[in-house]
Amino acid sequence: MKKKVLFLSKSLKSVSTLNYSTSAGKLKKFDDIPGPRGPFGLGNLYNYMPIIGKYSWLELHKSGLDKYETYGEIVRETMAPGVDIVWLYNPNDIATVLNEKEHPQRRSHLALEKYRKDRPHIYKTGGLLPTNGQEWWRLRSELQKELSVPKNVRSFLMDVDDITNEFVNHLESDIVINMLPELARLNLELTCLLTFDVRLNSFSIEEKHPNSKTSRLIRATETTNSCILPTDQGLQLWRKFETPTYKRLRRAQNFMENVAIDLISEKISYYREDRQQQFSAGYMKRSSLIDEYLKNPNLDLSDIVGVGNDLMLAGVDTTSYTSSFVLYYLGRYPEVQKKVFEEAKKFMKEKYAPIEGDALRTDIPYTRAVLKEVFRLNPISVGIGRILNKDTVFSSYEVPKGTCVVTQNMVACRLEKNFSDPLEFKPERWVNRKNAINPYLVLPFGHGMRACIARRMAEQNILVFILRIVRNYEVKWIGRNDMNVRTVLINKPDQPVNVILKSRND
Ligand code: HEM
Repeated sequence: MKKKVLFLSKSLKSVSTLNYSTSAGKLKKFDDIPGPRGPFGLGNLYNYMPIIGKYSWLELHKSGLDKYETYGEIVRETMAPGVDIVWLYNPNDIATVLNEKEHPQRRSHLALEKYRKDRPHIYKTGGLLPTNGQEWWRLRSELQKELSVPKNVRSFLMDVDDITNEFVNHLESDIVINMLPELARLNLELTCLLTFDVRLNSFSIEEKHPNSKTSRLIRATETTNSCILPTDQGLQLWRKFETPTYKRLRRAQNFMENVAIDLISEKISYYREDRQQQFSAGYMKRSSLIDEYLKNPNLDLSDIVGVGNDLMLAGVDTTSYTSSFVLYYLGRYPEVQKKVFEEAKKFMKEKYAPIEGDALRTDIPYTRAVLKEVFRLNPISVGIGRILNKDTVFSSYEVPKGTCVVTQNMVACRLEKNFSDPLEFKPERWVNRKNAINPYLVLPFGHGMRACIARRMAEQNILVFILRIVRNYEVKWIGRNDMNVRTVLINKPDQPVNVILKSRND
């Protein structure tokens, strides 16, 4: 027996040495990574131009699939001479890039960074989204305690449930409603309540007027998001003069910044009036994020204005688009909706029964599976971008430090080799898992140190929305049956989210 073990361990050693030397010997050069380089190596940007190009910035998942089918699991695309993007489709490569420990870097929101850096009297940094390195970590480490620690996130649940209940009850039944603008109102109301402890009354008739404060805020978040990709890509002329896209971003940011400054000033004057009060005298059952940040000696006012703005910018469209995709699938798959209803009814005997934290944690495996399956098919981002902090090997190719690498999770999640019936909406695959699913495929919030700071909060808000809407109504899908997406930085439904809500009697 001893001999056998010795033999086995010797052979394993030789196999592992062999693997190591073969893979080390097989390392291939960056220049050899297959992919489009454009005519004479001048870059593939022309292919993204309207009319002449075969790709579109608005449909990055389609160009992603085309590149995978043409070149394989790793693709190097030269955009302009010296400017490359390496696209990764293999989950092992995705794990390698996202597990980077040392201040992971992203190259995005560059025009937003310029906007803020041009205003040093208001901002100290470009904020969480574009900032990298030590300065990013200073902000992130102070901000994430309130947003990420499960206990803190759970303490927002009662407020989230109250507002969602109010939202669901204000919706009209038996008529066609486009839910996307409605969902933007829900998520603006939630983001501003949790961030600033204010009620904006987004669901009121007055606020639904196009010139109201909430309508303008919703437009400003969407406008800013839609200006990010066009200003990040291409020649960046906005650095030299104010291009029309930059101007739109500046105006939208100006509006959001004024709202954030007003709300924070109100908070500060409140504290000045009554310093004995520990919590705000606002609407919430606990203190808001800004209340906590104002107490933090490691954050100053310019950090707080920046984060107030960042949370509005990142919080509204992401959650509204995801909830829209949820409604699409619930409406199209009545048998799935029925199972969610049955799960909800188990602990919400009456429609108005409050949702408890324990129920969210333990009682809704199927509803969670529905959300996971929505994220598999319709993540709000096609993948995650990083700038490499060090030379790295992907699929045996050496990729140098400083290269822009983007994962292609959305495409990988729709491939037969990763999921059976990949284009079918099947929440069951997450409930009765027969085969192990690689954990680096479905990553809607990214992964690692730089993953979405509000992941738990966003999931909690969406789950409460699913449970409330399905407990109160039967959702009937009235839109087209081929929902697609348009990439406006994040993936937006490409059609109105039209449903009819039928009130449930039980
Ligand atoms: C369905 C909802 C959401 C999804 C799918 C989502 C997804 C993402 C993704 C993919 C990233 C980039 C992660 C990476 O680079 O690894 C991100 C970053 C971020 N998200 Fe979210 N997000 C959602 C909701 C929210 C909400 C509600 C907020 C705030 C209230 C928020 C705030 C942020 C911020 C500030 C960052 C930048 C973090 C950093 O760079 O350190 N997100 N999110």
